[in-house]
Amino acid sequence: MDILDLQIIAGITRKLSWFFHTTLVVIFMGCSTESQINDVSKTNGSVEKMIFGSIENENIYLFVLTNTSGIEMKVTNYGGIITSFKTPDKNGILEDIVLGYDSLEHYIANNSPYFGAIIGRYGNRISKGKFTINENEYQLAANNNGNHLHGGLKGFDKVVWTANEQTFNDGVGIKLIYLSRDGEEGYPGNLNVEVTYKLGNDNSLMIFYTATTEKPTIINLTQHTYFNLSGDFKEDILNHKLTLNSGIYLPVDETLIPTGELRSVTNTAFDFTAPHLVGERINDDDDQITIGLGYDHCWIIDKSDDITQELTQAATLYHEASGRVMDVYTSEPALQFYSGNFLDGTITGKQGVTYSQRFGLCLETQHYPDSPNQAGFPSTLLAPGEVYETTTIYKFSTE
Ligand code: GLA
Repeated sequence: MDILDLQIIAGITRKLSWFFHTTLVVIFMGCSTESQINDVSKTNGSVEKMIFGSIENENIYLFVLTNTSGIEMKVTNYGGIITSFKTPDKNGILEDIVLGYDSLEHYIANNSPYFGAIIGRYGNRISKGKFTINENEYQLAANNNGNHLHGGLKGFDKVVWTANEQTFNDGVGIKLIYLSRDGEEGYPGNLNVEVTYKLGNDNSLMIFYTATTEKPTIINLTQHTYFNLSGDFKEDILNHKLTLNSGIYLPVDETLIPTGELRSVTNTAFDFTAPHLVGERINDDDDQITIGLGYDHCWIIDKSDDITQELTQAATLYHEASGRVMDVYTSEPALQFYSGNFLDGTITGKQGVTYSQRFGLCLETQHYPDSPNQAGFPSTLLAPGEVYETTTIYKFSTE
């Protein structure tokens, strides 16, 4: 058990909401610090490392993580991209539930959808790519409809991370490390970033993000996997049933920048406080549906005021035919639900499958879009001496 694992456990324990507390603490309290250190040699599951390709004569690797239930996750240190994630359906059949490509070359040539990638320095949009810190104005790439999107022309999804295999008492993982230098993509400050993927034997994928900076900067990291629970891409995601633990969402302007309004979901197509099929209202006559070409909005996760940084359930995704369930928990205040509206059939992914519109959906936990320019939104500022830490867990089961 290494220090990171203890930090994660400590971090999660610290961040536990009352609801989650009784569950997770029981799990972690079952492994005392003493037993964890003693069990450091005991591995659960496996990590295989293989060469995925090369960039400028530097080997790029693909790691195959398998837990004790047989769930298999593949991840490369190029962009921290999750290239494959296989979970059982209700009959125990293991199938891939994430969109992507089979080769590194394809990801390098065209990952405009950001399949499977770590997103940063700032996930989502920043209006006109501009923001100001302490009267210093910064200009980022306006790489999406006049705004900045997902870290710019070469965001964290396109950089090579240093990868270290991780062994935990209750799973396996990969720690990805990257130094984003002062001025990279226009952002201030050397930013040391670590992202740890932990595939737990409880069939969870925990993503632990941490960062420190040498100058005041902004940061909003997320993960951009497109999920399709049908398994091996049998159908699009319109028959997926979604629940979002949120009564408020952020309406956007024509360029998908939040207007600043916090709008109630009640009596709208954005109300997922009870389960709804993604396709049930996706063509409703609603100006926000029209602007977003479907769902491409940020929901504010319901958290009790005094636990805003706590790990809270944000969403549940369910696919009846396969029986697959994915629960999402996060310490972040918000989640972008994107229903794959820009997929247009021009991309052929794994298994030769053509990705038509809405063939995958994303549940991107994060801070709000354009926060640096919206005083009423939670801050995304990080100052020297502070530690950025967020945790998101995707938990897989069947019904
Ligand atoms: C995020 C955005 C979408 C789209 C995708 C990438 O989900 O909200 O508008 O840009 O990234 O295709």
